[in-house]
Amino acid sequence: MSGPAPAVRGPSDGASEVAAVSMRGITKRFPGVLANDRVDFEAAAGEVHALLGENGAGKSTLSSILTGLYRPDEGEILLDGRPVQFASPRDALDAGIGMVHQHFRLVEPFTVAENVALGDRRDGRSLRLDRRRIEQRVSELSQRYGLAVDPRARVWQLSVGEQQRVEILKALYREARILILDEPTAVLTPQEAERLFVALRQMADEGRTVIFISHKLKEVLAVSRRVTVLSKGRSLVTVASAEATPRSLAALMVGRELDEAGTSRPGRIAGACLLEIEDLWVSGATGADALKGVSLRIHAGEVVAVAGVAGNGQRELAEAITGIRAPRRGAVRLEDRPLRGGDPRKAQAAGIAFVPEDRFGTGVAPGLSIASNLVLRSYREPSHSRGPLLRLSRIRARALELIARYKIAAPGPSAPVQPASGSCGPDRDATAVPGLWRWRTDDPRRGSPRERRRDWGAPRP
Ligand SMILES: Nc1ncnc2c1ncn2[C@@H]1O[C@H](COP(=O)(O)OP(=O)(O)OP(=O)(O)O)[C@@H](O)[C@H]1O
Ligand SMILES: [Mg+2]
Repeated sequence: MSGPAPAVRGPSDGASEVAAVSMRGITKRFPGVLANDRVDFEAAAGEVHALLGENGAGKSTLSSILTGLYRPDEGEILLDGRPVQFASPRDALDAGIGMVHQHFRLVEPFTVAENVALGDRRDGRSLRLDRRRIEQRVSELSQRYGLAVDPRARVWQLSVGEQQRVEILKALYREARILILDEPTAVLTPQEAERLFVALRQMADEGRTVIFISHKLKEVLAVSRRVTVLSKGRSLVTVASAEATPRSLAALMVGRELDEAGTSRPGRIAGACLLEIEDLWVSGATGADALKGVSLRIHAGEVVAVAGVAGNGQRELAEAITGIRAPRRGAVRLEDRPLRGGDPRKAQAAGIAFVPEDRFGTGVAPGLSIASNLVLRSYREPSHSRGPLLRLSRIRARALELIARYKIAAPGPSAPVQPASGSCGPDRDATAVPGLWRWRTDDPRRGSPRERRRDWGAPRP
C-alpha cells in the first residue's frame, strides 16, 4: 500500500475512449424543488473536468448522487462503461470515488493521520491501528502532491486550507481514482488555490478523474480541460476549456449575454480613523503567539484587505477585534474608545459585525430554526424580549420579513438552518445573504419524506 504509484489507469485523451464516469438522465427532486433535471454528465480518466453553475444550479446534488449520498429518482451512473448502483456512500468509496465536500467532515479532536484512516476498511481490519505506518503514508502523500500538513497535528489546530488538504489526502489514501471537489477554492487564498491546481493537475496526469465544482470562471478555465455547465438543474453543454472564455461561460451560466459594465470603482477618499489597532499580541489555539505586535488603522469609507496564507493570524486578528479572543497585549479602539478584550457583546453593541470564516461552525447554530438564528445576536433587545421572556410572535414576524427581503429559500421561519451552499464569491456570501442557508428536508439515511419532516418538526409554510 505504501508503493509510490496508485492503482489507476494511465493518462488518456479522454474524449475518444469510454468515460470513467458517465451520468445519464439524472433527476433528483426535493419537496418543491427539482434539483437535477435529466442531467447528463461525462468525465474521462486523466482530466480535470469542471462542473460550473450558479448558486442552486444543482452541482452539489449531482455530486452527492455520484458519491452515494443521495439516490437519484431517475437516471443511471456508469463507471468505465459499467452501470453501478450505490446503496450508500460506502459503495461509492469502494468503487474508488472520493469527495471533498463544501463543508469538511473531519473529527476535530483527532489527529490528521487518525482522520485520514478513519473509516478505511483496511485499517479497520486489525484491532490495533498502526499509527506509525499511517503517519508515514500520509507524509508520503502530502510530499508527493505538495499538500503540506503535519500528520500528528490535531484537526482543530489547523487552518481551513490545511483541513482541506486533510480531506484530499483522505481520498488519496483510499486510492480514489475519481476525486470530486465541491467549491474547493472558496476557503483558499489565491496562492493556496494555485498550489491546489498544481496538485489536481498532477492527480489527473496520473490517470485520475478530477471533478472540480465551482462558479468561479477564471479558476475553472485555469485548472480544467473541459467544462460542463449546469443551469437551473439542467446540464446545458460541455465545452473544451481552451475554447472558452470567462465571458462565454458566464453567458452560458446565466443564459444571456452580460453587460460590458466593469466592476472596478475608483478608489474612495477615506474619512476619519474609525478603528485603531495598536501593538496587538494574541495567542492562537495552540498557545503560541498568532499575532505579534500588529498595528492597523482603518478609516471611514475604506475597505482594508488583510492578505496572507491561512493560518498566519487572520482568524486571531478578526477574533480579537470582535472581542471573541482576548489579546495578551495591545489595544483595539473604536472611535478612540478602547474595546474591552474578550467581550463580544460589547464589540457588537459598539457596531462591529462579523462574518466568520467557518460559517457552519461559528456563524450559525445548525439545527436551530431560521427565526432563532436570525435573533441570536439581538434577542436581548426589547423588540424581541421582555424580561426573561422571548416575544415569539415578533421574532417570527421579523424572520418572515427577512426571509422575504433576502429570498431565503426555506419553507418558513421554523425550519432548521442547514448549510446547503458554501459558495462565497465576491458578490454572494453564504452568511451575508441568509437566503443561502437552506433548510434540510431530505435525510438520505432513513425514512420517508413525511417521517423526516415529522422528525424535524413540520416546517410551517
Ligand atoms: N437537502 C435538500 N433539501 C431540499 N432542497 C435541497 C436540498 N439540497 C439542495 N436543495 C435544493 O436543490 C437545488 C440545487 O441545490 P445544490 O446545492 O445542488 O446547488 P449548487 O449548484 O451546489 O449550489 P451552490 O453553488 O449554492 O452550492 C437548490 O434549489 C436547493 O435549494
Ligand atoms: Mg453546492
